[in-house]
Amino acid sequence: MTKVTIISRNGEGREVDAENGLSLMEVIRDNGFDELLALCGGCCSCATCHVHIDPAFTDRLPKMSADEDDLLDSTDHRNDTSRLSCQIPISDALNGLIVTIAPED
Ligand code: FES
Repeated sequence: MTKVTIISRNGEGREVDAENGLSLMEVIRDNGFDELLALCGGCCSCATCHVHIDPAFTDRLPKMSADEDDLLDSTDHRNDTSRLSCQIPISDALNGLIVTIAPED
């Protein structure tokens, strides 16, 4: 089982089990972090699943699509570590990942 540490907007972190094949958004939401709205349900059209990814894992993430890039441009808190969590499938390669929920726009 892949382990992921999720840091909420108030700075509290919790390590959770992440099932391979789920999206990172689903793992965050299913573990009760309801501040991650994920309004579009994961179809890459809302940007309310914005997270910041530990830079050590950048190389292990799937390439960002043009749609994801455009949506992230619409947020106020984009930085080099920004991704939409619905676009990141969980796999063994992400074991130990630390992900921080981005501030609300
Ligand atoms: S849940 Fe809407 S873009 Fe990720």
